[in-house]
Amino acid sequence: MNSIAVYSSKGGVGKTATAVNLAYGSSRRGKRTLLCDMDPQGAASFYYHVSTKGKFTKKQFMKGRLKKFICTTSYPNLELLPAHFSFRKMDLALDSDRKNELKELFNSIADRYDVLIFDCPPNMTLLSENLVTAADQVVMPVIPTTLSIRALAQLMRFFDKIDADQNKLRAFFSMVERRKRMHVDMVRTYRKKKVFFKSIVPYLADVEKMGINRAPVAATIPGSPAAVAYDRLWMEIWKRRVCE
Ligand SMILES: Nc1ncnc2c1ncn2[C@@H]1O[C@H](COP(=O)(O)OP(=O)(O)O)[C@@H](O)[C@H]1O
Ligand SMILES: [Mg+2]
Repeated sequence: MNSIAVYSSKGGVGKTATAVNLAYGSSRRGKRTLLCDMDPQGAASFYYHVSTKGKFTKKQFMKGRLKKFICTTSYPNLELLPAHFSFRKMDLALDSDRKNELKELFNSIADRYDVLIFDCPPNMTLLSENLVTAADQVVMPVIPTTLSIRALAQLMRFFDKIDADQNKLRAFFSMVERRKRMHVDMVRTYRKKKVFFKSIVPYLADVEKMGINRAPVAATIPGSPAAVAYDRLWMEIWKRRVCE
């Protein structure tokens, strides 16, 4: 099983849009995929019309009762573990001395899936640390602005601090606007760096429309520039997978 955390300490950079579309791309290629909505705001669950089953609270989660709460979606090969509002207090439940706690919880369902995608909440918390540790790859959307680049540098330092493998971190440029000089210059400067994927995701209205369509872009507008961009990103991520 390959696990991918879509993470950034910043909000509004395209994490959920990315996680939702990558999960769809993975399932379309026949991979048994589980999208784990780790953000208490539950946006990934919303996009897939999934709401928390019964009492899937932080407490149930920490007891490892995941199977019972996994939901099907309208798409083959794609299941979703919904978020619950109580996840906002996940840090209080996690043990700061056990960085693998979350990874161990997910081990119980590992054999059922080829791909696990975590839609992470923003911030740098104990939950972030657990998610980064649990994932085989950490994918960070970066809007081409100074503060986003700074957030990437901070994440690299965070990796060092928690002894995480820098090799599993890759960023990509998200919400790129070609008419903005700063975006174009930043993409040109940083895209060559090893930490960046070659794929970029432009700023496209079709991605925003996901909020109305409540579906991944490739499901409603296949072949659109947005669908193609996420597909390319998925292919790059998949090439770097650690397991068969
Ligand atoms: N590539 C994109 N083009 C246009 N809008 C985007 C794009 N990616 C995300 N958005 C929009 O930006 C907002 C924040 O995106 P979201 O994925 O929720 O960010 P995050 O999960 O990092 O907070 C949403 O309204 C979303 O529809
Ligand atoms: Mg989000």
